[in-house]
Amino acid sequence: MKEKIQQFLKEISAFSGENKEEVEQFRIKYLSKKGLIPSLFGEFRAVAPELRKEMGQALNELKIKAQDKFNQLTEKLDDNSQETDNDLDLSLPVDFHELGARHPLSIVRNSIIEIFARLGYTISEGPEIEDDMHNFTALNFPLDHPARDMQDTFFIEKNPDIALRTHTSSVQVRVMKNQKPPIRTISPGRVFRNEAISARAHCIFHQVEGLYINKNVSFADLKQTLLYFSREFFGENTQIRLRPSYFPFTEPSAEMDISCNICGGKGCNICKYTGWVEILGCGMVDPNVLENCGIDSEIYTGFAFGMGIERIAMLKYQINDIRLFFENNKRFLKQFESAN
Ligand code: PHE
Repeated sequence: MKEKIQQFLKEISAFSGENKEEVEQFRIKYLSKKGLIPSLFGEFRAVAPELRKEMGQALNELKIKAQDKFNQLTEKLDDNSQETDNDLDLSLPVDFHELGARHPLSIVRNSIIEIFARLGYTISEGPEIEDDMHNFTALNFPLDHPARDMQDTFFIEKNPDIALRTHTSSVQVRVMKNQKPPIRTISPGRVFRNEAISARAHCIFHQVEGLYINKNVSFADLKQTLLYFSREFFGENTQIRLRPSYFPFTEPSAEMDISCNICGGKGCNICKYTGWVEILGCGMVDPNVLENCGIDSEIYTGFAFGMGIERIAMLKYQINDIRLFFENNKRFLKQFESAN
């Protein structure tokens, strides 16, 4: 038996199968159920007890060697066959990788930011989940003030002091509390209001709000800033008009219209034949707000404004349904990158 084992070992290590068939023959000869190695195991039963240990080890070694050899050869053949199967045709066109496009809201937000950055405005951001103080109280909304209802707030059920911010004015409160004037900043961000979703309104939308606080800031500064913005964004012939309005945090307050960028002011269905479309709210920061945020209203004045990015984007690109921004239809979303 010892001799047989030795002989097989020699044969096995000398063997080199050139193709699958030869390797399969090798397997059948040595490893298959009726092969040489299993039959040696059969003979092993008759081995004298004092030789068993030595023979057993030798037999196991032989089996492992044969199995290794078989595995090696099969692997090698597989590798080779892959090379031939994959005969690459380098002239084939490459796979098409579809490029994404920037979301229209990002495009519009970025160009608004860029215009105000040119005027020296910094960008401030804050949390989307806010407390009553930053979203309302510091902004001069007393607890029982009806203007709170105007904002259709989502409150956190377990804690009515916490809400999803209804505007990014909350960020401006944080800036006023933490920085000393002069302050010149815009706060872009997502806001939330409990509104029925329709073509014109959504419960999630985006704003850019702006704030300028310094000595001697006047309403004329506000108007000039907004005129500059409107012409940079909508075109140099754009006109603006301000209508008196009300916000708790500004006094006086106004809403601003631009001359309709679709019909140039002649009247069309976008501007409902008035020639004007509303784009933002604004005003002089109420002295109470300055004081609430630790700024001396005897020394400093300021203006603030806020606009909805969706509304501006709808006007710019003539989109008639706000829901399109949130549906992630690629055919819709891909149209805007080059339009800018
Ligand atoms: N915060 C107001 C809103 O969300 C917009 C606004 C900002 C109005 C600043 C005036 C001044 O409706």
